Amino acid sequence: MLQDTNILRIPGPSPIPPSVERAMSQPMIGHRGHEATVLIQNIKQRLKKVFGTKQDVMMITGSGTSGLETAVVNSVSSGDEVLVIVTGSFGDRFAKICEAHQLKVHRLDVTWGQAVDPALVKDFLSKHSQIKAVFVTFCETSTAVINPIEDISRMVHEYSQALMIVDGVSCVGGIDTRMDEWGVDIFVTGSQKAMMLPPGLTFLAVSDRAWKVIEENRHPRFYLDLLKYRDSLASNSTPFTPGVSLLFGLEQVLTLFEEEGLQRVYKRHELMRDMTRSAMKALNIPLLTIDEVASPTVTAIKPEDFDGEQLRQQVKKDFNLDLAGGQQQLKGKIVRIGHMGYCTPADVLQIISLIEIGLVKIGKGIELGKGVAAAQAVFMKNK
Ligand SMILES: Cc1ncc(COP(=O)(O)O)c(C=O)c1O
Repeated sequence: MLQDTNILRIPGPSPIPPSVERAMSQPMIGHRGHEATVLIQNIKQRLKKVFGTKQDVMMITGSGTSGLETAVVNSVSSGDEVLVIVTGSFGDRFAKICEAHQLKVHRLDVTWGQAVDPALVKDFLSKHSQIKAVFVTFCETSTAVINPIEDISRMVHEYSQALMIVDGVSCVGGIDTRMDEWGVDIFVTGSQKAMMLPPGLTFLAVSDRAWKVIEENRHPRFYLDLLKYRDSLASNSTPFTPGVSLLFGLEQVLTLFEEEGLQRVYKRHELMRDMTRSAMKALNIPLLTIDEVASPTVTAIKPEDFDGEQLRQQVKKDFNLDLAGGQQQLKGKIVRIGHMGYCTPADVLQIISLIEIGLVKIGKGIELGKGVAAAQAVFMKNK
């Protein structure tokens, strides 16, 4: 079968829009020249809206994890006590980064597949007044759960002096993000998910309150020192050579966001979530999460009477469709479908249709078209 390109539906990296690919293939420019200054200035003005902030958003060449580590090394220092809310493998990663920097880590472990209850954060903080920062994942990619950032942030500010630090790597750009309104102190995201870019850029927005802490913080850092990025960005530059091609791409991504309208981008993601979930329900395939906390960027199914790994292999073989498996304790137990960034309801109908064929081929007795019909019904109701 003709298979020039794969159908990439993992929860990041995600496909790149053709106009973004073209933008990234522009001839290289000098990173200290006038063109780079204009490019960064242009991006700087437009990127804030994606984070829902009046702050400048810093861009660091590095993967999402470098953004998480940047948040840690700038806001706290060895020996400080921090709370890490762990709802899956990326909360766990935040905790491991904190441990690597010799912080005293308190973990609030939540059953994987569930969102954290903000009341638990309140209970913890009212008993631990010395906590310097609270780390939490917005979309826990490993479980397809959205944590209630606004409510958690309210608890953090009411019951502590801690900074509220959020990993939005797998959803910012695909979900309404209101950093200033919610009182988030550091918001991190990455390029390769709802931001429709290849991997390689991480973004951080910082509140005035957090800047004061960062200015005083003496924890060692060099490449990841946010003060350097802030100073450079003030003059539309970066402290080190930026991933110039990624910035070309980002400029075009912002144009696509503006053309569609951010609120419509978010509605599209919600619609894709609802279509995917309805299809799975119609096929009697259990979902890992309840509707109320389901992510608009990724859906996790929990196969009970078939092998999820076999399904992934089948659709890869027949259609070159990439779905993701589970991570850590969920390895081999779930299948994750990415529907973020450069993805539309039309793509969702394709994914469901291909999954249905895969299910039949591996011997799960489903009725072909039942999931697709359910997703179509959701689409018709919404439009
Ligand atoms: C929520 C979340 N945080 C952090 C990361 C880590 O990003 P990277 O793999 O780009 O380092 C990911 C990547 O999947 C993620 O989904």
